Amino acid sequence: MGLLNFPVNIPIRIDGRYKLQEPIGSGSYGAVYKATNLISRRVYAVKLEPHSGGASTIEQEYHILKQLKGQPGVVRAHWFGRELNFNAIVLDLLGPSLQDILAQRKTLSPSIVHHLGDQLLSQIQYIHSNSYIHGDIKPQNILVGLGDQAITPYLIDFGVSKQYRNSATGDHIPFRHARRSHMIGTPIFASINSHLGAELSQRDDLESLVYVLIYFMRGSLPWLQVDRRTRKNSKSSALNMKQTTPVEALCCGFPAEMSTILIYTRMLSFSETPDYDYIRSLLMSLQNDSLSPADILSLIRDELRLPNSHASTHNDPKSLCGGEAQFCGSPLKKRVTNCPPPPPTPAHL
Ligand SMILES: Nc1ncnc2c1ncn2[C@@H]1O[C@H](COP(=O)(O)OP(=O)(O)O)[C@@H](O)[C@H]1O
Ligand SMILES: [Mg+2]
Repeated sequence: MGLLNFPVNIPIRIDGRYKLQEPIGSGSYGAVYKATNLISRRVYAVKLEPHSGGASTIEQEYHILKQLKGQPGVVRAHWFGRELNFNAIVLDLLGPSLQDILAQRKTLSPSIVHHLGDQLLSQIQYIHSNSYIHGDIKPQNILVGLGDQAITPYLIDFGVSKQYRNSATGDHIPFRHARRSHMIGTPIFASINSHLGAELSQRDDLESLVYVLIYFMRGSLPWLQVDRRTRKNSKSSALNMKQTTPVEALCCGFPAEMSTILIYTRMLSFSETPDYDYIRSLLMSLQNDSLSPADILSLIRDELRLPNSHASTHNDPKSLCGGEAQFCGSPLKKRVTNCPPPPPTPAHL
């Protein structure tokens, strides 16, 4: 639900001690506000969802975050409860989303994408080791931290997460074609199997992660502009474009290992445990061997900050990469250059 659709009588305080301030974001289920703790004066994020009496997505988020807590990239949840006609969760305040950053930067350099990919992969592996899948991996759901944590990506929004196995017995849920009429997750970053209505499992989080990483490097995806209402089987649907865009075209200009990762994640079977280390080793191809660890750190700090919020330009990625910002990450590694053309962009776009 977007902010504009929200009922007007929003609570002024949450749990008596968090004073609500300006809105900072909204998504499909709730609206997020800054809030000050009146005792400590610390600022938090509060996510609100209208209380309907039915199952609460943010209550489920709270329980999952409590289970995952303590791991890098897991936002701390401080309180969950009801306030007026809303369910509310109080979270640590984080920085901008990767979508916000990309909106300003257009693309991220391979060293940063390696850094993000490596950390996000570990987070996804950790979530999976706790028997959950995330289910909606996309740039809007990846935020960077504040202060010391400004180079740590946080995977947020466990609103559609679910258990893919019984945590006590380890038994995997059975495969089925979902009965629901609409897909889970976001079409742009959803796996092909998710479009086809299959029950989600570990493989789908990883395929989504690859689309996210490709999106970071290209600044776009061939199906980015596809209208949500486009019929699933039409040639211009996101599903059709994912199925018909040659992997080499999608990964053109990147190290060949990116294509291998995408093919690998698409070939995983429903209940297969992914080989996370294999993916991690392939992601290494994005690393820039000619940069020192200190250079990489300052590059990351610089690139993961919104451009209009920093003054220094001496760490401009272009200057560190000799002017070729986009694929300067792996000068010695073999890149796919013989690229087949992508399918034509739909006429209505
Ligand atoms: N802890 C947080 N700190 C700062 N901003 C946040 C935080 N959590 C969410 N947001 C902002 O609110 C947006 C929506 O939050 P999200 O949890 O994804 O809600 P939804 O389930 O509605 O998609 C995010 O994309 C982000 O911009
Ligand atoms: Mg979200």
